[in-house]
Amino acid sequence: MNTKPTIPTWKDKILFTPGPLTTSRTVKQAMLRDLGSRDFEFITLVAEIRRRLLALGQVADKDYEAIIMQGSGTFGMEAVVSSVTPPDGKWLVIINGAYGKRLNLIATTLGIPTALLTYPENSAPDPVAVDAALAADAAITNVAVVHCETTTGIINPVEEIGAVVRKHGKRYFVDAMSSFGAVPLDLAAAGIDYLVSSANKCIEGVPGFSFVLARRAALLETEGWARSLVLDLLAQWRGLEANGQFRFTPPTHTLIAFAQALRELEMEGGVDGRAQRYRANYATLLAGMTDMGFETYIQPEDQGYIITSFRYPTHPNFSFETFYERLNDKNYVIYPGKVSDADCFRIGSIGRIFPSDVRDLLAAIRETLVEMGVEL
Ligand SMILES: Cc1ncc(COP(=O)(O)O)c(C=O)c1O
Repeated sequence: MNTKPTIPTWKDKILFTPGPLTTSRTVKQAMLRDLGSRDFEFITLVAEIRRRLLALGQVADKDYEAIIMQGSGTFGMEAVVSSVTPPDGKWLVIINGAYGKRLNLIATTLGIPTALLTYPENSAPDPVAVDAALAADAAITNVAVVHCETTTGIINPVEEIGAVVRKHGKRYFVDAMSSFGAVPLDLAAAGIDYLVSSANKCIEGVPGFSFVLARRAALLETEGWARSLVLDLLAQWRGLEANGQFRFTPPTHTLIAFAQALRELEMEGGVDGRAQRYRANYATLLAGMTDMGFETYIQPEDQGYIITSFRYPTHPNFSFETFYERLNDKNYVIYPGKVSDADCFRIGSIGRIFPSDVRDLLAAIRETLVEMGVEL
């Protein structure tokens, strides 16, 4: 896919993907400076980022800490799992897509036992089943679930599951990679001990780090549990608290860009403002795609406004590779599917894109279908 070399142009392609995403020019421009990692200005900027992240999780004045971890989102997931599992701990992993599976893979790779509650990719997990699973297995110490399962775009009921996890006194980890910053979530109210997301999703920064929002009391009980040096969550937090610096080289330019992205999120009206634009993108996309005859994989009541999986048309002339490449040639980047039991492709509604961009994409899709001789 996309094997042809492309002639550089001044115009970037528009990314309708789950990330990295289209970012604003001002976020990219913010990176055009060098700051030393021990520079006072950089340390102040990191402290400001950490403060704003807590505010986004609605826990600024509560007992939570923001910990930035170098690397992509998966590094943040692995930092949590490897650092907060007691020596004899066991996870209950709730799975309805690729990222739930990845959580389990991280634990098993580390030799940590897991119990699984697995659902079809188009079904939301049932909190009653979580209750039963926890009641049945006293060895479980930690529970993990994905908020927006980016495999399909389904939104999982993290608040309801959180109430069950809290009732059983277990530690609760939510992978909110593709939802944090655009889907309102009160961490304390949902009983979340650890939440992970990354720079290049709904906050609209560029890739380079993940971050964990951790309940301080839960974090403090993890002393001596880390199974990795670089991904040691408690040590990373202690380092940042001690002198505002990272233990190892931080992605300085990405962090400068992220501070700008956070300011732009605030200018847009915070999480609610961003949610409003992404909802408008999604509504425009859904109406246009449905009008053309495309079908979604997820039922509307479970579907979030972050990313949408569409089933391949059954017309014999349809080939996803050709569809993708022709859209790419028109400067629109969509995403392959990740669903295991159906042929789908995905279109994201997130990043610095607006309903007018979605309408342009829809026009390009219509044109491409005509070129391919695909009738829906
Ligand atoms: C829900 C979820 N979890 C984890 C990840 C992994 O993040 P990364 O690819 O940045 O490692 C993603 C990436 O899209 C995601 O959407």
